[in-house]
Amino acid sequence: MNHQPHIISGRDIATRLLEEELIPKVNKLNKKNVQPKLVVILVGDHAASASYVRQKEKFADKAGILAETWRYDADVSEAKILEEIECINADDSIHGVIVQLPLPDHISVEKVLNTIDPNKDVDGFTPTNVGRLFLGEPCLQCCTPKGIIRMIEESGEDLMGKNVVVIGRSNIVGKPVSILALNKRATVTTCHSRTKDIDKMLEDADIIIVAVGIPKFLKAESVPEGAVVIDVGIHRTEEGKLCGDVDFEAVSEKAKAISPVPGGVGPMTVFCLIENTIEAAEQLS
Ligand code: GUN
Repeated sequence: MNHQPHIISGRDIATRLLEEELIPKVNKLNKKNVQPKLVVILVGDHAASASYVRQKEKFADKAGILAETWRYDADVSEAKILEEIECINADDSIHGVIVQLPLPDHISVEKVLNTIDPNKDVDGFTPTNVGRLFLGEPCLQCCTPKGIIRMIEESGEDLMGKNVVVIGRSNIVGKPVSILALNKRATVTTCHSRTKDIDKMLEDADIIIVAVGIPKFLKAESVPEGAVVIDVGIHRTEEGKLCGDVDFEAVSEKAKAISPVPGGVGPMTVFCLIENTIEAAEQLS
């Protein structure tokens, strides 16, 4: 019961990279009279979305970039949101836009994403950027997958040749992180709810990325000794605490390194959003 894994603190990595990389880039842009600006479109009063948006605003402030949240009632029309995106696309003072998901059912996510200018798509969700990511071309990469790869590399792991098992096949995490790891020349297995035997797939895993949205889904018995475990989930327990998709205490006994919840993937997602906004400002100015 004494094994102490390396804790991959996304919070510490993001704080360090803010100082080392983002602030110098913002200073350089400021010298050219460019002030990076992000607009977050927030529809309705989804509690988790409101909390994520606050974290994004806070980190943008620390990086010295402008971030505005444009708020709309849950019954706002789809046409109004599309119109607002068109305005942002045409506004040279705005370099990045994201539409916080989930959206109410009457607004088509597909239409919204197809309206965002790919050069301002700092979430990396538009078909253009997803296609470029797939091809391994330079692009604005979706933030959570990009943050996961960065935190693995910052923890000293090289992905090349490693067995990476991703659990989850969503468009915003499972699929793109599988492709990013593949582009780093990892051997990637993507599991999901219909996978016949996930434990069998995990037997030879060097790195496990869990994004299933089920509290404490990954148990210690499923984890090979010495694996690196990245937990993408975040849930509130009955006692009011936060937990992830990984049974952290038990899995810690076997993992070589593990990301905590909170303070793991979440801060890396926010870091990548602000990094992408700065990158968009560099490209557009
Ligand atoms: N909802 C949950 N995660 C995200 C994200 O990364 N971007 C947006 N736009 N919405 C989300």
